[in-house]
Amino acid sequence: MSLKEWMQATRERTETALNRYLPSPDHNPKRLHEAMHYVCMNGGKRFRPILVHAAGEISGATTTALDCCAAAIEMIHVYSLVHDDMPCMDDDTLRRGQPTCHVQYDEATALLVGDALQTQAFITLAQAPVSATTTKALIRTLASASGSTGMAGGQAIDLASVGVPLNEAELEQMHIMKTGALIRAAIRMGALAGESLDDRSLDQLDHFGKLLGLLFQVVDDILDCTGSTEALGKTAGKDAAADKPTYVSLMGLSGARHFAEDLLCEARQVIAITGPSGQRLQEIALEIVQRTH
Ligand code: IPE
Ligand code: IPE
Ligand code: MG
Ligand code: MG
Ligand code: MG
Repeated sequence: MSLKEWMQATRERTETALNRYLPSPDHNPKRLHEAMHYVCMNGGKRFRPILVHAAGEISGATTTALDCCAAAIEMIHVYSLVHDDMPCMDDDTLRRGQPTCHVQYDEATALLVGDALQTQAFITLAQAPVSATTTKALIRTLASASGSTGMAGGQAIDLASVGVPLNEAELEQMHIMKTGALIRAAIRMGALAGESLDDRSLDQLDHFGKLLGLLFQVVDDILDCTGSTEALGKTAGKDAAADKPTYVSLMGLSGARHFAEDLLCEARQVIAITGPSGQRLQEIALEIVQRTH
């Protein structure tokens, strides 16, 4: 199977898993449950679930355990997008090519959709057929990556930095937290779910995850500047318009592109150490940067 075919099959698996682990829209409160489906079942790239499954191949995890991890992390990610788009944050009206949650529904619903997806993620994760010790490690990994020292903390720094020029170290820290933490967690969760890897292998994958997470947000910054609204499915050019600190505002477009290529190179060197089992992750890293070409 080519990488593209495997990624597509993994997206489809993830959508089946999301449908299975989300509360049914036929159950009360129907409007809230319908809104949860609206934001989850709308064609995201499913990048974090893809990483869960790629790392899960290395650890030999069962597909059911990986489906639970993949659905859980996608729910957290979607919650972060719903809140990120709200008027009190980035104030965006388009996400994945359709009206954002607060536009399609209302602000209170968007707030509750995020809250409910966050807890549903942990209900889902708790159903993974793994040992109690691994369940605990998975919950801890996802919770730390989502909270004030991970995604939510990075979002706080992002909001506090509008119009404030950050230096490279500060920008890197913000990106590693707001986006990198969940991407790193996706790889770690897939690695943990197999209950087979030693600490050294886990650390190698974790190091790769950290680089990949930063790379992903650098690419998001570049695409905000170079992509079209149609291709991105979200309003292009918002970062410059909102005076957000990004790698493009710090280094210029060509500086950001070079930085992404350097990060890719470093990430691929780190994953190469794991040998042939890391091949899929190598290819995925390349795929991220190719989106900017
Ligand atoms: C967008 O994430 C927000 C960031 C954290 C950069 P994605 O680019 O993964 O968005 P979807 O899930 O494909 O919509
Ligand atoms: C998103 O950063 C980080 C999140 C935690 C959602 P952005 O604000 O750059 O994401 P987009 O560009 O709106 O998808
Ligand atoms: Mg934002
Ligand atoms: Mg945004
Ligand atoms: Mg962005």
